[in-house]
Amino acid sequence: MGLLSTLLLVAFLGWAEGGSSPHYLDARSSRLSLEKTYDRSLKDGQCPHMLKHLHNGARISVQMPPSIEGHWVSTSCEVRPGPEFLTRSYSFNSNNTFHAHQFYYEDNHCTKPTYTLVIRGRLRLRQASWIIRGGTEAEYHLHRVQMVCHTASVAKELSQRLNHSCRGAVKGPWDPSAIYELWSEDAGYDCSRELNFAMHEMQLLRVEKQYLHHNLDHLVEELFLGDIHTEPSQRLYYKPSSYQTALQNAKNHEHGCIACRIIYRSDEFHPPILPPRADLTVGLYGQWVSQRCEVRPEVLFLTRHFVFHDNNHTWEGHYYHFSDPVCRHPTFTIYARGRYSRGLHSTRVMGGTEFVFKVNHMRVTPMDFTTTSLLNVFNGNECGVQGSWQVGVEQDVTLTDGCVALGIRLPHTEYELFRMEQDARGRYLLYNGQRPSDGSSPDRPEKRATSYQTPLKQCSASQPDPSGAGDVDGATPRRSGCAGRHGGGRPRAAMTAVALGTLLLLSGQR
Ligand SMILES: *[C@@H]1O[C@H](CO)[C@@H](O)[C@H](O)[C@H]1NC(C)=O
Ligand SMILES: *[C@@H]1O[C@H](CO)[C@@H](O)[C@H](O)[C@H]1NC(C)=O
Ligand SMILES: *[C@@H]1O[C@H](CO)[C@@H](O)[C@H](O)[C@H]1NC(C)=O
Repeated sequence: MGLLSTLLLVAFLGWAEGGSSPHYLDARSSRLSLEKTYDRSLKDGQCPHMLKHLHNGARISVQMPPSIEGHWVSTSCEVRPGPEFLTRSYSFNSNNTFHAHQFYYEDNHCTKPTYTLVIRGRLRLRQASWIIRGGTEAEYHLHRVQMVCHTASVAKELSQRLNHSCRGAVKGPWDPSAIYELWSEDAGYDCSRELNFAMHEMQLLRVEKQYLHHNLDHLVEELFLGDIHTEPSQRLYYKPSSYQTALQNAKNHEHGCIACRIIYRSDEFHPPILPPRADLTVGLYGQWVSQRCEVRPEVLFLTRHFVFHDNNHTWEGHYYHFSDPVCRHPTFTIYARGRYSRGLHSTRVMGGTEFVFKVNHMRVTPMDFTTTSLLNVFNGNECGVQGSWQVGVEQDVTLTDGCVALGIRLPHTEYELFRMEQDARGRYLLYNGQRPSDGSSPDRPEKRATSYQTPLKQCSASQPDPSGAGDVDGATPRRSGCAGRHGGGRPRAAMTAVALGTLLLLSGQR
């Protein structure tokens, strides 16, 4: 009890002091009220600490324009919509040419290579992106796309498939481990389309540098390339509006990244085979936070914090939205809660587990004048009490069935896909489904994701504890994946938004 009242007191004093000081201007008081929100919602220390660190600008520097020369590799087995399991190894030369390898696999741990694409071309950086602040636009031009199959059955299957739709590439039965041309400037055919192949990811780039663990010797450089449309048939026409999982510079990658080293040494005839791992049982309990300022398609920057109560299958989500790519200028926050239920292992996405999430309660806090005025223009009972919004003051919008201005209607149901991993330091990561690229929400089972968003990190294995005795370092040992599998199902983990469509409205998309 003592600790709790101290926390509340500190929160109150912090706020009162800010509010009464003439030195605090709007941005500052937004920051304070954001902190106040954390303090109210969380009683244990690590989760709010991790978020504050992100909002105060983690030690990340962004290069504009980005310098991309060098060799960049995936840090783990990646999942693209479809699903497709792959690793990437991209080299950019000083004469603006690039040479990219995409290694594809049969399984979700990237242990069984099926085929490799070798892509050569030229890339020119253009202006800073008008749409995605902090990103740089680029134009690419392909010279050549080649393919190597890694097993006899894949060679047979792909050569039949391409023979059917694209005669040019197939002049006889394909051999595994031989290289075939899918497209080149003077081949007169394009067999890459059959695979929905495009390199539009190269149209949006961002490079971040970060010194890990406060260590000047440990520089990590990350290259973010544009996202891939969640509908494979739309890939050829989609211009990226957010990012994929970052690649890391092969010279400056995280020391614990074993996959980085394996991928770096690979080529089309020796595809990377990542160390086999067991699938972890998704356990949705405890608290999870964003590891970085995340980008949603259509100009939304946000951080997320989820609390899962597996005793009664309820969840709470905090979505902190920002106007800038390092999450320093808050625009609004959403608190949502509801129930969830666990489904089966996905039959479509190897390693994924299905869930259904319901949102039936929501509160909104505008954090800047723009959002506040926007909420105040809406008439009628469509988003809280008409005309009553004030900067930094939270309102419950459950009674108005959500908030039309933000595109959120309650109650809302979403069909989710989750998976869990452990990072190199043994921390649990929680992945939930990628939101549909068309801005809709996965409100029907057929719209369930086949790929994932940036993972959240476990910040507490316990739920917020009113005694204040929460798990502070988030490193509490938990049962192994195997034990969990037998024990079958204490869920844990994160989620998505709610709000989603929403934000589109704010950005003028709907
Ligand atoms: C560009 O540089 C790469 C690597 O240095 C080299 O292999 C390639 O031939 C060069 N291409 C052109 C068109 O100069
Ligand atoms: C390609 O298709 C043609 C006609 O359908 C067939 O005769 C030929 O054997 C096929 N080649 C391969 C490698 O499948
Ligand atoms: C579910 O359990 C949590 C923690 O045990 C509690 O705080 C919350 O109020 C419960 N929710 C419902 C709807 O019972």
